[in-house]
Amino acid sequence: MSLNLSLMRPIFLIGFMGSGKSTLGRALGRATGMQFIDLDTYIEQRYHANIRDIFASRGEDGFRDLERRMLREVSEFEDVIVACGGGTPCFFDNMEVMNASGTAILLSATHETLLRRLKAGRRRRPLIASMTDGELSVFIGEALDKRMKYYSKAAHTFPADRLESAEQIDETVRLFIDRFLTNDINCLQQ
Ligand code: S3P
Repeated sequence: MSLNLSLMRPIFLIGFMGSGKSTLGRALGRATGMQFIDLDTYIEQRYHANIRDIFASRGEDGFRDLERRMLREVSEFEDVIVACGGGTPCFFDNMEVMNASGTAILLSATHETLLRRLKAGRRRRPLIASMTDGELSVFIGEALDKRMKYYSKAAHTFPADRLESAEQIDETVRLFIDRFLTNDINCLQQ
């Protein structure tokens, strides 16, 4: 397989919380040599606080403002894979910024997958931290419905249910590279 990664515009992985943006992005970074940036981590490092504390001290509006600014910053980079937060596409003109500066790829996962992953990863996500399992299940359905109008502005959609083991991650990375990053297809080149 030959990769053509020279001077690529950013790839933005978008999708609901738990859709696998960080897991797939990190693995893609390792497999391709492209730099992986997790937008939440980028914000945390820049502002010396974790997302929970930023929500607590600045409110969601304050967080969205930082997220907006940091998204614009990473949009200028080349050869990077950016895992956005689940809400990033849904505020301001963030989707337009991504589409103008690089390629947004929506990671899709079933309700069942999202619920399973988020039950385990609730604590560090302020929007769902205090929800019961039942509330979380309803929230996923309703929020995904509202967010789809933003998510659907992505140039491509990629299924990301199979990220539960090292083998599945390898296989999903291979499929992603075959689809988006090989010389033949190379639909992401500028
Ligand atoms: C959010 C998703 C989180 C994080 C913040 C808000 C959202 O990122 O940005 O808690 O609004 O969906 P992940 O999608 O990486 O969990």
